[in-house]
Amino acid sequence: MNPDELKKQVAQAAIDYIETGTIVGVGTGSTANYFIDALAGVKSRIDGTVASSVASAERLKSHGIRVLDLNEAGELSVYVDGADETNDYLQLIKGGGGALTREKIVAGASRKFICICDESKLVKVLGAFPLPIEVIPMARSFVARELVKMGAQPELRQGFTTDNGNIILDVKALEIMEPCKVESELNNIPGVVTVGLFANRPADVLLLGTARGVETRTAG
Ligand code: A5P
Repeated sequence: MNPDELKKQVAQAAIDYIETGTIVGVGTGSTANYFIDALAGVKSRIDGTVASSVASAERLKSHGIRVLDLNEAGELSVYVDGADETNDYLQLIKGGGGALTREKIVAGASRKFICICDESKLVKVLGAFPLPIEVIPMARSFVARELVKMGAQPELRQGFTTDNGNIILDVKALEIMEPCKVESELNNIPGVVTVGLFANRPADVLLLGTARGVETRTAG
C-alpha cells in the first residue's frame, strides 16, 4: 500500500469514533483531508464540525458539511487529526501544515482526540521532524535567540503566515527526551503562541495505518 492508501484507510477507520448527534473537531493536513472526505458520507448523522484551519473549513463546506465557530459549539465529542510524529505514549509533533495553534485549541476542547497517521510517523523519540513553533511576528528574533541558548536551531518558515497572522519557526536539534517539560519550557518564552508539541495533552487513541491494516493504540 502506498502512503495515500494508508492515510485513506485510517481516515475511514476514524469514522467509527463519530458519535451521532454531536459536533466533531476536524484537523488539518493531507490525512485530515481524507477524513473530511469520509465524513461527508455520514454528514447527516452529525450536528456539525469545528475546523482547525481555514483550509479544512473550506473543504468541509465544499462537501456541504456544517462548520461552526468553536465559541458556538461548546465541548466537542471527538477531535480527529493527523500528526507529523507520534511516540508510543501518543505524544505528538504537529504543525507541519502550520495549523498547530487552532489544532491545539480544538483538541483541548474535545473529549477524545483520535490521531490518524501512517506508520512512517511512529518514532521512539520525538524530534527528528523539526518542531514548529508559532510566534508573534515582533518576537521572532528574541524567541529565536532564546531557542539558540537552549542548543536548538530555529529556522523561519519562509513566505508563510498562519491563519492567526503569525510566523512559524521550525526548530531542529532539540533533544525531546522529556516532551511535557520541553512543551512547558517553550510555552513560557514570551512571544511564543503555541508549540507544536502535543505532550501534556496527547492523543487518546492512535489509528496507525500499516500494510497489515489499521492498528489501534491507546495512551498509557
Ligand atoms: C497541520 O498543521 C499538521 O499538524 C498536520 O496535522 C500534520 O502536519 C500531519 O499532516 P499530514 O497528514 O499531511 O501528514
